[in-house]
Formats: sequence, structure tokens, C-alpha cells
Amino acid sequence: MAGVTFDNVSKRFGETRAVEGASLEIADGEFFALLGPSGCGKTTLLRLVAGFEIPDDGIVKLGDVLVGRPGWALPPEKRRIGMVFQSYALWPHMSVAENVAFALRVRRVKEEERVRRVSEALEMVGLAGMAERRPHELSGGQRQRVALARCLAMRPDVVLLDEPLANLDVHLRETMQMEFARFHKELGTTFIYVTHDQAEALALADRVAVMDAGGVEQVASPRTLYAEPATEMVARFVGRGIVVPALVIGRTSERVVVDIWGTRLPARGAGASGERRSLCLRAEDLSIATNGGGIRGRVTGGAYHGAATLVTVQPDADGAPELKVEHAGPPPEPGSAVAVAARDGWIIPRGYS
Ligand SMILES: Nc1ncnc2c1ncn2[C@@H]1O[C@H](COP(=O)(O)OP(=O)(O)OP(=O)(O)O)[C@@H](O)[C@H]1O
Ligand SMILES: [Mg+2]
Repeated sequence: MAGVTFDNVSKRFGETRAVEGASLEIADGEFFALLGPSGCGKTTLLRLVAGFEIPDDGIVKLGDVLVGRPGWALPPEKRRIGMVFQSYALWPHMSVAENVAFALRVRRVKEEERVRRVSEALEMVGLAGMAERRPHELSGGQRQRVALARCLAMRPDVVLLDEPLANLDVHLRETMQMEFARFHKELGTTFIYVTHDQAEALALADRVAVMDAGGVEQVASPRTLYAEPATEMVARFVGRGIVVPALVIGRTSERVVVDIWGTRLPARGAGASGERRSLCLRAEDLSIATNGGGIRGRVTGGAYHGAATLVTVQPDADGAPELKVEHAGPPPEPGSAVAVAARDGWIIPRGYS
């Protein structure tokens, strides 16, 4: 088993900077997620771990072993890496068992050992009874289990998963997420899981790296990413935070006091009086004020979410972004004038407005 280190790694394809100055320390046995919008470099990072790409700058290590540097990379077949893709990549003409056995056969694992590892892997993913089926006789979720079994049978040091659940419907995705969490726990192997679905990353991972345009914006636990986003991009991307300009006007014993469009509110984070900063507001920390004090604006809509309605409010202030307010009970009519109170906000460390 092994952890993975990226030290200031860059990878370019012609003019495209797919990965730019990325540094990450992924611990041995960690469930680590790479989260970010399409094209931000997630798959490229995985391919650097697998050995399909050579870095242009920086180094890649598996455990203590240098596996990639400019001009050289240890070939994929010399690394103990398992990969699971969105597309499953199963051989249609082979049975489930043959698919799982294939890579073992290529690596000349003896038959007795091969049979044992295949049946163990199929047992683990709950497909013991389907060993003789062909991929087209399986559901999408079952196919993805075969892909995972194939990867586990190789006894990899690191398992790379590239959007493995993107082709599945919402229900199955949730079930499979729990299964992945279980596999990880039982195996204790390092998992690097790529997704652009933040709920998936937050639910599964010990730590998440949020990427944007080839760079790493923040690496943190799901809780920290949500509560204390380091940049405006992370604030907006994780949990759809609203970023507003704020003026720091003082502090109480525990909180910083900020002013947004003439309304004072308590915020977490660091800021000195007089500084103009960016503040992240979450829908669950906002409410429609009943006493009239708060950010003045007009209701523009409401979306029913079961327990609460997400009410959108356009503040009267010039250039202000629309706010989202989690509201229990019947929502105010669109067009009505309201005031929005905030009980919490987060001063973004690397954000100045
Ligand atoms: N082999 C290649 N040749 C040229 N450009 C490439 C190549 N591979 C990736 N890129 C470019 O590098 C950037 C990063 O691509 P990458 O596949 O790593 O993104 P991603 O985060 O995995 O996106 P997605 O969520 O859409 O899968 C993109 O702009 C992509 O077009
Ligand atoms: Mg990708």
C-alpha cells in the first residue's frame, strides 16, 4: 500500500495547461477525492498517478518511490495501480469471471491463485452468483462492480476511480457510494476518487482537493471545505455559497462584525477594521426577518425542497447578487419586499472585494 505525493506538478498539452503547479500529499489508506468543474485537470492528475502521462514539471511519488519527473515516468505495468472508469471498459465477449481474471492472466498469475482471487473479488462486490454472465446481461451498477472486482483482484496499492458512478441513476449512485465506502474500509487501500459531484465527494472522502483550471484551490476535510472555504471559487462551488462584498467594521469577543449594504452581521474568520473582504453566505444561515431589520430586497422566486423552501431574494443594493434563503413554512409571494437577516457568514481568507 502507498500514499501519493505530487510536488509542484505541471502537465501541458500544447497550449492547454491541464495541471499547473499542483502539490498534494495523499496519505496511505486515505479516501481522497478530486473535485472540480469539467476540464480542471482531474483525469490528468489520475493519469499522472497511473503512469499514462509524464509531468512537464515537478515530481510524482508512490509511497517513497519516485515514479514521475520531467522526461521520465515509471511505466503503468510496473506500478500497482487499479483503475475504475465511468465507462466500465469491460470486454463484451468475456464472462464476468473472465473479465476479472484477464489482467491476472496477462501478468501470469498461476491458475490456482487466479481462480481464488477472482472468486474473492466477486464475493466482495456481491457478484459471486453471476460469474458466468456476460456484461450485456448485467445492469449498469453490476457492470461497475465487475470493473471494481477486476481492479481489486490485482491487489493494487492505490485505486483510482474516475467518475465511476456518473452513468448510474441517482438511487443506484447512492447505494454504490455506500458500497465504495465499505470496500475502502475493508481494504484499507488508498482511494483517489474523481468526481464533479460535490455531494458525492463530501459524503465519501476523508479529504477533498478542490481544483480549478489545473490548480489546487484547497485541500481539506468535507466539513472544513463547507464551513471555511479558502477561495471564492470553493465558496461558490461547494454548497453553492453566495459571495458578497463586506466591510469589516469591528469585532466582538468571538466574531468579526461586518457591514453588507448597510446591514451589520457577525462573521467568522479573520479581518481587520476597514478592510473590504469577500463574505460567503449560506442559505441555512439566512432568514426572512420578521422585525424588518436586515438586507432589504425583493422576493424573486421560491423552490420547494420538502422540509424548507429555498426563497430567492434580490437585494435592493446596486450590483448585489441574488441571495438564497432557506425558509420553513409558507414562502412570501414573489415581488414582495422583505428584509433578510444573517446569523453567520465566513470571511474568505483569500478574497478581497
Ligand atoms: N491528451 C490530451 N490532449 C490535449 N488536451 C488534453 C488532453 N488530455 C486533456 N486535455 C485537456 O486538458 C484539460 C484538462 O483535462 P482533464 O481531462 O484532466 O479534465 P477533467 O477535470 O477530468 O474534466 P472532466 O470533468 O470533463 O472529465 C482540458 O482542457 C482538456 O481538454
Ligand atoms: Mg475527467
